[in-house]
Amino acid sequence: MSRPTPQTAPQFEDRLPEQYSRPGINQYLTLHRTYGPPLYPASDLPAYKGRWSELFGREAPLHLEIGAGNGAYLAGLAQQHPEWNIIGIEIRYKRTVWCAKKIRAAGLSNAIIGRYHAAYLNDLFTPGSLSGVHVNHPDPWPKDKHEKNRLISRWFLEDLCSLLIPGGRFRLKSDYEPNCERVVELLDRNAEGEALPRLPLNILGRSSDVNGEGAPWENDIPTEYQQKMLILGVPVHALEAERTSDP
Ligand SMILES: C[S@@+](CC[C@H](N)C(=O)[O-])C[C@H]1O[C@@H](n2cnc3c(N)ncnc32)[C@H](O)[C@@H]1O
Repeated sequence: MSRPTPQTAPQFEDRLPEQYSRPGINQYLTLHRTYGPPLYPASDLPAYKGRWSELFGREAPLHLEIGAGNGAYLAGLAQQHPEWNIIGIEIRYKRTVWCAKKIRAAGLSNAIIGRYHAAYLNDLFTPGSLSGVHVNHPDPWPKDKHEKNRLISRWFLEDLCSLLIPGGRFRLKSDYEPNCERVVELLDRNAEGEALPRLPLNILGRSSDVNGEGAPWENDIPTEYQQKMLILGVPVHALEAERTSDP
């Protein structure tokens, strides 16, 4: 099957190894391009917007994991849900290779990993095309001046509501306590506290320690960072929300 051409110009710019001043310093700059399926560099992904079923070779509910890290959750989710097509995105070259190795080792045909930036999900997905979005331990960026770097933000929740189908689920786990509360707060305001239209997300459940009391969903899959937190004795907070059918 030949790769389709993107319908619109992607906003996220892929940088080729030769665009770095010292490309040899990171072998994964090249390796992540030559590794092959299930690993796709950023330049390959936008072409599949609206046609992911062609890449997976079947129609199935589409799930996304953002910041897949070492791929433990991604591969675990794909094993747990053979009936889903699952895309992981990860910004760091080396980690995309780690994820791909896990998917290959498990012989999974229902998961892929792509190098992409979470701020550009609209390059990859059409509105109402995702059945689930999974975020585990997003980088916390705790200082006020780093607000623009945080994934858990009003713009992200707006993207989420646009991309999820009605009834689609958002699952978040984080050792950074404010993250789950931020989801609730940003439903009807921005980070500065100004009132905004309420987003169509309904909070289904929360946990203040997944490792202790469990997650607000069944059969949770521990991530690398979650296991680190268990060893450190740091609670892992979780939240599950559902996209409602309101506009
Ligand atoms: C704290 S780690 C958590 C990794 C994994 N989810 C886990 O729970 O073990 C955060 C991950 O998000 C990735 N990441 C950070 N910013 C990202 C972005 N803008 N787009 C995609 N991935 C990103 C990082 O490279 C890293 O792998």
